[in-house]
Amino acid sequence: MLLIKFDTNVGLIMGKGSGFGKVILFNEHFTVYSIPSIVSAIDRATTAIVEPFEGTGWTIDDQREATPRYKEEKLEQQKDSTERILKAAGIDTTRTPIKITLGGDLVVASGIGASAASCTAIARALSNEFNLRLSDDRINELAYEGEKGYHGTPSGIDNTAATYGGLIWFVRGTPNVIERMKLERPIEIVMGNTGLVADTKSAVAGVRERKEKYPEKYGKLFKEAEDLAHKARKALEGYNLKVVGKLMDENHRLLQVIEVSCKELDFLVDLAREQGAFGAKMTGGGLGGNMVALTPGKDLQEKVARAMEKKGFEVLRTKVW
Ligand code: MEV
Repeated sequence: MLLIKFDTNVGLIMGKGSGFGKVILFNEHFTVYSIPSIVSAIDRATTAIVEPFEGTGWTIDDQREATPRYKEEKLEQQKDSTERILKAAGIDTTRTPIKITLGGDLVVASGIGASAASCTAIARALSNEFNLRLSDDRINELAYEGEKGYHGTPSGIDNTAATYGGLIWFVRGTPNVIERMKLERPIEIVMGNTGLVADTKSAVAGVRERKEKYPEKYGKLFKEAEDLAHKARKALEGYNLKVVGKLMDENHRLLQVIEVSCKELDFLVDLAREQGAFGAKMTGGGLGGNMVALTPGKDLQEKVARAMEKKGFEVLRTKVW
């Protein structure tokens, strides 16, 4: 993960780092209110290179492959985020101008942890370039600062997955509970991209508004989400995938009730279930972005992925482990 490249003639010439993409399997949104949630890193990552720059301040060369309009729509948030990371790392780019180049094999879109993956990658690359020797915990803190530029009040779940990788039980708190979960073996999933770029900040704000307006209704929903998380952990750790799938379906229903799904996400979720997925749900901030289908085995994964592609959607065949 931590790479430093030396040129024997000129010494340290660039710092590199990377951050994983992620899929939230249970309880996005609820996690903002400290309801337990389950997230997994995926086998795709964003990379960052930080190197000295002839100009002033800092600049980003964003070479990530992306869903149309994603990078344009996130540009202002990316600026805010980068300033926050630099400040948290104590780097003054008026004295040491830098160029940041983003790349990697994570095709960036909403719902796949793109912002957190880039924040983690940048934090790691800065640590290398400036020889800060930051621990993973400190990288995670810097990435969390960066996430504020995109999300306003992030729970910290995305940067945690981007930094540590693996399957994680996450509960927001002081400090956050971050527990590595173990799976008997990896599980194939399909992530279906609606192609809609969504704003997590406003999705989170919408839930907050409705929660304040209907405290009793939301109180019950939040209790259901909490019970569901515990059942999901047990089912995942027992590798009881039929139960995991049913609980994902149930989680999607809760996310529909709190109004963060949309018709394109619901369409892909229904399609995945029709094709035999064990379960399916939206994933991430919602109101567009990605959904996830649980498709153990290469054959089922392929069947579900192809059905989505036939309807014109971009898909990612990946796994949780
Ligand atoms: C976004 O990937 C997940 C949300 O729960 C927001 C957060 O936890 O910060 C919607």
